[in-house]
Amino acid sequence: MEKSKVRIALTKGRIEDKAVNLLEKIGYDVSELRNKGRRLILSIPNENIEVVLAKAADVITYVEHGVCDLGVVGKDTIMEHGGKFFEIADLGFGKCKFALAVKNGSKFYDGCGVKTVATKYPAVTRNFFESKGIDVDIVKIEGSVELAPLVGLSDGIVDIVETGTTLKENGLEVYDDVAYISARLIVNTVSMKLKQERISEIVRLIEENL
Ligand code: PRP
Repeated sequence: MEKSKVRIALTKGRIEDKAVNLLEKIGYDVSELRNKGRRLILSIPNENIEVVLAKAADVITYVEHGVCDLGVVGKDTIMEHGGKFFEIADLGFGKCKFALAVKNGSKFYDGCGVKTVATKYPAVTRNFFESKGIDVDIVKIEGSVELAPLVGLSDGIVDIVETGTTLKENGLEVYDDVAYISARLIVNTVSMKLKQERISEIVRLIEENL
């Protein structure tokens, strides 16, 4: 009997290679994924698995809507975006952290004026400062957030720190840790019930190969 079809959404970019390596380790034929060109839908032969490549937030959208059964996405996007799905495994790669960073030597928590924080992640930033009971103004930035304090737009930033190189090369430093991040496996809530056997098999293989 043919295995029931499963569609997996992978986040394009930084964690894509590691996700493909994991699928290969499981024993899947990932040749289409390695030679994808500009194609966005790839298949894993003999497994009846289709893999789609999307931006992180879209991975969540596709899984939430049930057009993809499984997704691989960073905890950063999950924390910012939220949504209705099951987060079932920490894949252990794509490790980095959310941090509050400031210009070297600057004392963000000192003084009583309301500080301004620039970030690509306003929800994460709001939750972090709310949990600390600190009132801040948040400015949404689309990228290269490190620029904001350097040109005087903000007192600090909440951003992803991986190696710390971007902060260092721009005279910034971590002032406080916000949250640890890694790639996660997410599952559509209905798929979890309707394709339970197939999904459990894939999840078991993934967990055995982490
Ligand atoms: C991310 C993040 C930092 C950088 C951190 O940016 O926003 O800028 O990587 O990495 P590091 O600690 O290893 O230097 P990304 O490259 O995703 O692009 P962006 O600046 O456009 O957000």
